[in-house]
Amino acid sequence: MTVTVHPAPALAGSPVLPPDKSIAHRAAIFAALASGVSEIVGFSEAEDPQSTLSCLRQLGVEMEERDGSLFITGRGPGGLRTPEAPLDCGNSGTTMRLLAGVLAGLPFESVLTGDASLSGRPMERIAAPLREMGADISLTDGHAPITIRGRELTPITYRLPVASAQVKSAVLLAGLSARGETTVVETEPSRDHTERMLGLDAIDFDGERHVSIEGGREIRARLRVVPKDVSAASFFLVAGALAEDGVIEMSGVGLNPSRTALIDVLGAMGAKITTMHERDYAGEPLANLRVEASGGLVGVEIGGAIIPNLIDEIPVLAVTAAHASGQTVIRDAAELRVKETDRIAVTAEFLRAMGATIEERSDGLVIQGGTPLRGAEVHARGDHRIAMAAAIAALSASGATTIHGAEAASVSFPGFWDALDAVAGKGTVSMDGA
Ligand code: S3P
Repeated sequence: MTVTVHPAPALAGSPVLPPDKSIAHRAAIFAALASGVSEIVGFSEAEDPQSTLSCLRQLGVEMEERDGSLFITGRGPGGLRTPEAPLDCGNSGTTMRLLAGVLAGLPFESVLTGDASLSGRPMERIAAPLREMGADISLTDGHAPITIRGRELTPITYRLPVASAQVKSAVLLAGLSARGETTVVETEPSRDHTERMLGLDAIDFDGERHVSIEGGREIRARLRVVPKDVSAASFFLVAGALAEDGVIEMSGVGLNPSRTALIDVLGAMGAKITTMHERDYAGEPLANLRVEASGGLVGVEIGGAIIPNLIDEIPVLAVTAAHASGQTVIRDAAELRVKETDRIAVTAEFLRAMGATIEERSDGLVIQGGTPLRGAEVHARGDHRIAMAAAIAALSASGATTIHGAEAASVSFPGFWDALDAVAGKGTVSMDGA
């Protein structure tokens, strides 16, 4: 699908955001492993969490949608069934890596596959600790397809070599079926939804964070509520801040502190963002967000421990930086090169096509802001966050921008194009050149 986005100086409205993708995956997996029926309120229609559901169905998990909730009947410890075919994780790294952790300790063989993008992403990072626990895992040249022959696992203490919540969660999920206590040590904190949802304590010790799980621990079926996705909100926060006029409000947004660094960085750049009606629901903080046309943003330098907190938001941060005055430097973000695309290269590609001055570094980007962007023909390269970041850049460019591969947005935000059209004024976004 090709989408054309026209410039829109004024934005206003209250876009409805999709449910948080990271929390949705985990809510479904933990419900499937629990004993009893869990109700998940606000499950996501996005393609990635739907990939998790279809894999769980193949593992014998029953679920039904009723009154706007998803009810999942858990199969209890060790209760998942041998799948009859490979489990297709689609584009979803979280599905593949978390399920690998679950399957490593179950007594059957399974195969995890994915689309071309997912089949190019590194999987040794989960295979290594799972093998250390005794799992029998074969990769295809370091990638998916992954064949897992489940075994009895031994607990380990694992120091994460990369800050990754997916690797952390895979090890903790494998730890559920190990005999004894498995510990993951992080030197840079990554998102902590797994710990919160499983009620695991984390201990900070000598600048490191230790999270432990006791094998054989039962997961209780419970009501789980999925807040709106702060990563999806980030596109509208940037759009609202860069607009010449108007206010955008978003309600019920998950504001887990391990996910909100972009809001702080945008604030430091001069964006006028207000957090309202802060509350806690089912162990996750939520709030309403308001952003107003901000004007006069300035460049920033970011790197170090903050990076995992805003890793998914860097493409849209680069768009902000292109409009800000002065230089923005993003370092320590080499992980971006192994996301759905090489997001350092692909972000530089679309912003350069739009006239930005942007330089690729091995671990980040340097952007000289302030050159006005112009409409161009750009490619999402199959990456949802690139499709949406390019659309936000297009709103404040001169002339129309054509985005090829715009359908990728549905991986995390199925209603994105309509939501954008609604805040920017009908007709700003046209599909297939219509
Ligand atoms: C996620 C963790 C992050 C993030 C991804 C979702 C998760 O990946 O980029 O979009 O839900 O655990 P890594 O764990 O590979 O950093």
